[in-house]
Amino acid sequence: MSADTLTETPESVPGDHFVEINTDETIPNNVALTSDKQLQRALETWRPKYLDWWQDMGPEGFQTSKVYLRTAVGVDPAGWAKFDYVRMPEYRWGILLAPKVEGRTVPCGRHKGEPAWQEVPGEYRATLRRLLVVQGDTEPASVEQQRYLGATAPSLYDMRNLFQVNVEEGRHLWAIVYLLVKYFGKDGREEAQALLERRSGEADNPRILGAFNERTPDWLSFFMFTYFTDRDGKMQLAALAESGFDPLSRTCRFMLTEEAHHMFVGETGVQRTIEATCNAMNRAGIKDPNDVEAVRRLGVVDLPLLQRKANFHMSVTRDLFGGEISSNAAESFSAGLKGRFNEANLKDDHVLADATYPVERVVDGKIVEEQVPALRAINARLLDDYIKDCQGGIDRWNKVIEKAGIAFRFTQPHKGFNRRIGEFGGKRISPAGEVLTEEQWQARSGAWLPNAADMTFIDSLMKPCREPGAYASWIAPPRVGINNQAGDFEYVKIA
Ligand SMILES: [Fe+2]
Ligand SMILES: [Fe+2]
Repeated sequence: MSADTLTETPESVPGDHFVEINTDETIPNNVALTSDKQLQRALETWRPKYLDWWQDMGPEGFQTSKVYLRTAVGVDPAGWAKFDYVRMPEYRWGILLAPKVEGRTVPCGRHKGEPAWQEVPGEYRATLRRLLVVQGDTEPASVEQQRYLGATAPSLYDMRNLFQVNVEEGRHLWAIVYLLVKYFGKDGREEAQALLERRSGEADNPRILGAFNERTPDWLSFFMFTYFTDRDGKMQLAALAESGFDPLSRTCRFMLTEEAHHMFVGETGVQRTIEATCNAMNRAGIKDPNDVEAVRRLGVVDLPLLQRKANFHMSVTRDLFGGEISSNAAESFSAGLKGRFNEANLKDDHVLADATYPVERVVDGKIVEEQVPALRAINARLLDDYIKDCQGGIDRWNKVIEKAGIAFRFTQPHKGFNRRIGEFGGKRISPAGEVLTEEQWQARSGAWLPNAADMTFIDSLMKPCREPGAYASWIAPPRVGINNQAGDFEYVKIA
């Protein structure tokens, strides 16, 4: 099963494959925390500050409600989690690494084939620390972005999924903080503190990456975010899972298991929105998806609006990959600190001294493809892999529309559309890939990105629905319950 298709089926309840993980400790872990007193003390000092952050910046309200959550209790894919009612502040945030692979070697770059590092190589200390901080910063950021959504959840099922994603992003922060504190001494402890101090969207001390300072103001944004932006997380974690620094690789491999669920929430959330729209259109005998007024009167989201929302989230997420051509990315790869997506399965020399890679750029007002040294195009390649990876869910959304007999298809806009960073940063590119003048862009972009009227309409739909088994008008029920629970299961016992 690929990580992507991982859903919350009976496969993810405990089997008999427990890996020694001490869940009785304050900090559940499988890294023998009690045998490293200094590390244990450092993490136990950080923990109350983390809990303060969670109270201040985690989900608004519902902190005393009992939520049917999955908690990681092991790292075996066959039995890594258990489900139970938990109050979020009492969630068992722990440190879990995938099992060590004996004989693992550095998979890429100038150290390729050398034994993977169990300690930080001194010469790469600063680069590695930066990689960890940038990744770590995204984890609490998304919790902050999503903190007001509980109040308008379209069902208890969705509310529970939101909180599940939130506690797991919290756990991802723990995962990165563990590496910082264990391997980077005083610097690492300072970074761990700073991760709790930056705030999404705050002018003085924002989160590091742009998309993580955007608002997630409504549930459509949440579903688009978990489908498109958590998928950036997947790509970054997959590339870091190829790291020659073995503790990072093992950390990321386990984080990917959790990440798959976030993308599942996003994909099915959008899909259920589409289902509600198509069903309502068919019941009302509306055939034309562009008859927006009529569709909106049914209390569902018109498909062109969903496309505009998707366009926005795709474009801001693509910026997260950084400049397509990057000497920093070349150095991280050559140092063996970060690989490519699927590095182990790629059929080349994994050193890339002479290889090239095609990169699209704007030259003299035209988009052209140029061969660039592959080392300098590591980000370009990861972005291309990401765009391919996005397509699966989009195809499944289109199947739902096709089955409903409605003539509409979701597409991915051109890579250069609405970009702020990299080769297309500041250029005006249409979804179809035409280079536009500023004037043309101003005249046409309202049809491609959510406009003020769209946001007002979405806002009008965001009414809470808290009856077990009931769903807001704009979203269909899921096909299967979490952990196979019945349709009217009370996923959140609201206090
Ligand atoms: Fe995460
Ligand atoms: Fe995530």
